[in-house]
Amino acid sequence: MDTNRLKIKFIEVRKATEAICTPLEIEDYSVQPVIDVSPPKWHLAHSSWFFEEFVLKLFSKDYEIFDEDFAYLFNSYYNNAGERVLRPNRGLMTRPTVKRVYEYRNYVTQGVISLLEKNQNKDVLALIEIGLNHEQQHQELLAYDIKYILGHQPTFPKYKNDFLFSEEHQQQTFIPIEEGVYEIGHKGNDFCFDNELGRHKTYIQSFEISNKLVTNQEYIEFIESGGYRDYNLWHAEGWDYINTNNINSPLYWHFTKEKWHYYNFNGLELINPSEPVMHISYYEAFAYAQWKKMRLPTEFEWEVVSDKLNWGNLWEWTSSAYQPYPNFAKADGALGEYNGKFMVGLQVLRGASIATPKNHSRKTYRNFFQPSLQYMFSGIRLVR
Ligand SMILES: [Fe+2]
Repeated sequence: MDTNRLKIKFIEVRKATEAICTPLEIEDYSVQPVIDVSPPKWHLAHSSWFFEEFVLKLFSKDYEIFDEDFAYLFNSYYNNAGERVLRPNRGLMTRPTVKRVYEYRNYVTQGVISLLEKNQNKDVLALIEIGLNHEQQHQELLAYDIKYILGHQPTFPKYKNDFLFSEEHQQQTFIPIEEGVYEIGHKGNDFCFDNELGRHKTYIQSFEISNKLVTNQEYIEFIESGGYRDYNLWHAEGWDYINTNNINSPLYWHFTKEKWHYYNFNGLELINPSEPVMHISYYEAFAYAQWKKMRLPTEFEWEVVSDKLNWGNLWEWTSSAYQPYPNFAKADGALGEYNGKFMVGLQVLRGASIATPKNHSRKTYRNFFQPSLQYMFSGIRLVR
């Protein structure tokens, strides 16, 4: 991307992150209700630290670090970047204040803009582009985390409701794909993450994939038929997990006054039966597919058929473990920790969701999460 476009995009992305937080009250910024949900204040600071640590400190001549403590406070998981506050302790930080974190953001934003005006070295531009894509990932995480924070208040406060679903009204059909050798992975010179590279061939058996996602109505039928009580449908690990944690519905669902309701950013409302079911763990997606006597797509099947799918509503669970592609090579140093070190025990999701920033999705994009988690905007598409 050329310098001018990158500068415009940089300013847009920094503003978009702050716009996500505008509806929050000051008290919402600092809490961490569970380990997976980071305080919004932490995201605002961490996405700034990323630029400070990996761009400004290295390439901005005479750059003065905003606050010497911040690298310790807001490094997420980069061992190469030094000691840090451990993840479970992010919610303990009532200091620095929200005000100070916004000052930090402005300082870093101005620092990157003036760097872009002076230094147009290719490596610098590439690092800023990674920083932007990193911040966009945190924009989506902010949506998940804000939903969790507000959705676990006893009063179910409104946030804002511009996350619009398209309802799944079309007749269900199955799109057939012929068996054969297909190419998988990113192609071309546009930005992608390292985990999408190493384009390679894979053999795919013929399959058919649903043109639509599983809806709330269909998922209610699964619940009412006893899906959460039939161990034959579940992985052993999933069965243990739902029983230990008393899970018998998607996250944010509440059965009150004889009807299913959900928290949806707009308060607690009756479930819309035509929307795709969301806040589903991999365990649940798998059990649902078993119940329908179908299965989930592999990530390779999904990529091969992606041009024919309407996607963008929800991330779609695949049956693929998150593994390196055969020619995967990770970068040296801290940025090599970005994706590669998570390639064990996680499951791939494909597509994008209503919370994914525009122009931050690709058909080769590999999202990945633990199979037990429900707080992402995740849904189910079936294959047979
Ligand atoms: Fe991050």
